[in-house]
Amino acid sequence: MCGIFAYLNYLTPKSRQEVLDLLVTGLKRLEYRGYDSTGVAIDSPDNENIVMVKRTGKVKVLEEAIQEHFSGGEYSKPVLTHVGIAHTRWATHGVPCERNSHPHRSDDGNGFVVVHNGIITNYNDVKTFLAKRGYEFESDTDTEVFAKLVHHLWKTHPTYSFRELVEQAILQVEGAFAIAVKSKYFPGECVASRRSSPLLVGIKTKTRLATDHIPILYGKDEKKLSPDQDIRPHGQSRELPVLPRSESTSEFMPLEEKEVEYFFASDASAVIEHTNRVIYLEDDDVAAVRDGTLSIHRLKKSLDDPHAREITTLKMEIQQIMKGNYDYFMQKEIFEQPDSVVNTMRGRVRFDGNAIVLGGIKDYIPEIKRCRRLMLIGCGTSYHSAVATRQLLEELTELPVMVELASDFLDRNTPIFRDDVCFFISQSGETADTLMALRYCKQRGALIVGITNTVGSSICRESHCGVHINAGPEIGVASTKAYTSQFISLVMFALVMSEDRLSLQQRRLEILQALSNLADQIRAVLQLDSKVQELAKDLYQHKSLLIMGRGYNFATCLEGALKVKELTYMHSEGIMAGELKHGPLALVDDSMPVLMIVLRDPVYVKCMNALQQVTSRKGCPIIICEEGDEETKAFSSRHLEIPRTVDCLQGILTVIPMQLLSYHIAVLRGCDVDCPRNLAKSVTVE
Ligand code: AGP
Repeated sequence: MCGIFAYLNYLTPKSRQEVLDLLVTGLKRLEYRGYDSTGVAIDSPDNENIVMVKRTGKVKVLEEAIQEHFSGGEYSKPVLTHVGIAHTRWATHGVPCERNSHPHRSDDGNGFVVVHNGIITNYNDVKTFLAKRGYEFESDTDTEVFAKLVHHLWKTHPTYSFRELVEQAILQVEGAFAIAVKSKYFPGECVASRRSSPLLVGIKTKTRLATDHIPILYGKDEKKLSPDQDIRPHGQSRELPVLPRSESTSEFMPLEEKEVEYFFASDASAVIEHTNRVIYLEDDDVAAVRDGTLSIHRLKKSLDDPHAREITTLKMEIQQIMKGNYDYFMQKEIFEQPDSVVNTMRGRVRFDGNAIVLGGIKDYIPEIKRCRRLMLIGCGTSYHSAVATRQLLEELTELPVMVELASDFLDRNTPIFRDDVCFFISQSGETADTLMALRYCKQRGALIVGITNTVGSSICRESHCGVHINAGPEIGVASTKAYTSQFISLVMFALVMSEDRLSLQQRRLEILQALSNLADQIRAVLQLDSKVQELAKDLYQHKSLLIMGRGYNFATCLEGALKVKELTYMHSEGIMAGELKHGPLALVDDSMPVLMIVLRDPVYVKCMNALQQVTSRKGCPIIICEEGDEETKAFSSRHLEIPRTVDCLQGILTVIPMQLLSYHIAVLRGCDVDCPRNLAKSVTVE
């Protein structure tokens, strides 16, 4: 969803043009998150004002507007210290348009400008409060109230520092947010904060930092505003109460560097080309840079707070977020799967000794083995990885396994017990519904296991233990390599759980053997690309595509249909082949495109039965079958043959043609492959 990128150079000369280039590049790296408008704010050449450019549409459009407005002259002169903030907006409050794009400003004079991700839920109350004090609003957004609130606080509390003003404003707002604020009254300073929406600070210095930790500072007075003083209830008109001004106390010194550059970003892909040293901010952290010094403050002190935030070294490489020779990130990510599945298993699976160690959960395995049931919770593709592995988990753990869509799980107030083990599966680690479900289960005492691809994400940090799927950055909004790596992670977990079960050893060996061949088999499936492209040419003008299968391949049907929908905007449905006679068969005729997965596994005969039902209604399905399976192939002229593997891993090989098919149909239909309309990579609102 929305993306924040802010840049501050201290004693490192940069022209405004260079700063703008940096901001635009930062936004380009965040494009994959999904957005519909963009904007930047920098200092005017006389340093007296802040100038903003905003555009509806792509970052490219913003870039062109910037080139038009800010080239040459004063904009090419270097400045020692400067702050620029930038944003990609995914509309929640108000349609996508320049007026609603970020940054939002406090007043006509652009005193304070703000970029914001998330939703301020009590914005109406704050708006009423400010409107009564003469503030006029120019957008439909929730964000604008924040800029005006800071301005109001500045007017009423002239002695407060920039950081204190932002802190006081944060204390008044509810909801989920990450923000970065810039002010013409506090040149060279930037203040940023987060609550339930990710934000990190990248630090770039010429020499290695003197410390790996940034101390956390607390105000002397941590008293919370009492509700009757607060503006939140009903937005009644009264003066906004503000905590007494306080100097921060700490026995530590904040990070002080002479020549330094700071990057505030929603995720690491926007900073990795500048620095690999980052701090992941926690909820209610306020990060402030003043005179080149970064300090981190806490709004509220809790007993388990650490004394400092650690500077993490990112392992990501810049090449990992570049498209290379591919036309689209999604295409690159599909073709990376022979490597990404190996990376998921690397250092965990020992094929020679048939042993598996999942370092992130090994200490919890005895507790997990004693649990009442396993719950697998996620959204979209991540949920499908749970559907795909449920049967194997039931078989190898001999425990009841429930798979749940996070949103529905929360709607039902599902009963959760202390002896439940709840897995939260999420590529981004930030999906709001999944994160809420995690907190719900944690409050009820369940053991929380995170399965994520994003180190440092909220789900990672809030889990008791977990598995990083190590698929590498996934930029395309449509999830591909994360799915196959989530799948493998859950398979590895099942193998760990059955390590000491004698009766299951043969089955385990069979699966381990299949895992060792998987990368080569994925390569073989990827060779089908041109054949899939031909099939796409037959299909792309149709309105609908039905995808049928059962058993271990039902998840592929759901996931394939999701890929087709999100990328091509065609209707598509994943159908459990056993349900055909109960309704979906009515859709089948000689013009309805159907794809069926029919593999030689325990449900083969049932799948053949479904295939016959379809062909006898004049359906002409595309069949995904095993290499050399002449009997099955005879049912249709259009088929894709995939290598034989163990039943529980078939889903990895069958999903790849579906990824390729949706990709090619999307290209043929002229759709935006990496950023499908209305969708975001990281869904941080409920
Ligand atoms: C998949 O192609 C989708 N973009 C979407 O369903 C996604 O899997 C879902 O939003 C969950 O995201 P997460 O894995 O980051 O939690």
